[in-house]
Amino acid sequence: MRILITGGAGYIGSHVVHDLLERNYEILVCDNFSTGNKKNIVKHEHYKLIEGDFRDPDILNAIIDFKPKVVFHFAASKAAGESMINPIKYSNNNIRGTLFLLEKMIENEIQYFIFSSSAAVYGEPEYLPIDENHPRNPTNYYGFTKKVIEDNLEWLSKLTDLKYASLRYFNAAGYDIKGRVLGLENQPQNLLPIVMETLIGERQEMEIFGNDYPTPDGTCIRDYIHVNDLSNAHLLAMDYIIKNHANIVVNLGSEKGISVMEMIQTAEELTKKKLNYRIGQRRAGDAAKLLASSKKAKELLKWNPLYSDVKTILLTMWSVYQKNYHILS
Ligand SMILES: NC(=O)c1ccc[n+]([C@@H]2O[C@H](COP(=O)([O-])OP(=O)(O)OC[C@H]3O[C@@H](n4cnc5c(N)ncnc54)[C@H](O)[C@@H]3O)[C@@H](O)[C@H]2O)c1
Repeated sequence: MRILITGGAGYIGSHVVHDLLERNYEILVCDNFSTGNKKNIVKHEHYKLIEGDFRDPDILNAIIDFKPKVVFHFAASKAAGESMINPIKYSNNNIRGTLFLLEKMIENEIQYFIFSSSAAVYGEPEYLPIDENHPRNPTNYYGFTKKVIEDNLEWLSKLTDLKYASLRYFNAAGYDIKGRVLGLENQPQNLLPIVMETLIGERQEMEIFGNDYPTPDGTCIRDYIHVNDLSNAHLLAMDYIIKNHANIVVNLGSEKGISVMEMIQTAEELTKKKLNYRIGQRRAGDAAKLLASSKKAKELLKWNPLYSDVKTILLTMWSVYQKNYHILS
């Protein structure tokens, strides 16, 4: 079976690529390396790469000519803060680009689409844990772009043969437990890569955005899901939509809340290093606590996250950062 993976040289896509290759599928990755890492290019007889932007009509035609049965669409711009400052970048890449891709898929009778959605579609939580029926009121433009695509998927799948999985990731974290992925995220905006960069000495210090939230230690609580658990859910979701010829919309989170301060303290303990941080102002739009209910994914997909404990998340990340910075453990 042939599978197209847009953004397959990025953080999550590169993990999924390895798991799909283990199943012996023929993979075509399309990546423009805007945030992807060349270290994530795989040498394998069933792996091909088209380097370029999937919005470019020639590239789009070339990836559709591959005649994939399934498309995994990871390529997107993903920094919520940036989306509020430069919305055009996000409307173009995340909305228009994805719609072009879907139009081409439908024209060419490619039926199965796996979409990287986000917990950002929910916005400020009205109750916890957040299940899939929670209202979607994104508080940033990035979350809105994901919601627009979800709404289009719902319509298009009613009107055409398209079937999709919309996977609402909470905070993706960790690195491949088998050590197959070594490419670091470029200019990361999320907590854990910043913790790692600070521990490794790439950054002088890091900032904690507020310690006066109504949580036990005053810092924000988030739900972190290990990237191997995420990857596994993608394969299960693909099997599900093909087997049942049906759509699925699910949260993917660990259902465990960890505060920023707990994460920092555990990182210090595990790496035996002191992390240089300072407490800054709250960021607009940050909820005190976000927590997923992943009951639906567990029931429908028989998904069982195995690696999403804090220790595995931090140690798999630390190992990859050490390798990149040539530090022997
Ligand atoms: N990382 C998270 O915690 C998280 C949470 C929720 C949702 N998501 C979504 O998951 C997907 C993957 O996220 P990630 O963390 O792996 O991000 P990433 O930035 O590491 O990966 C995105 C990849 O897509 C490529 N890309 C971007 N625009 C492209 C274009 N127009 N043409 C070709 N390639 C392009 C980038 O070079 C990169 O390799 C994104 O859609 C993101 O919005 C991520």
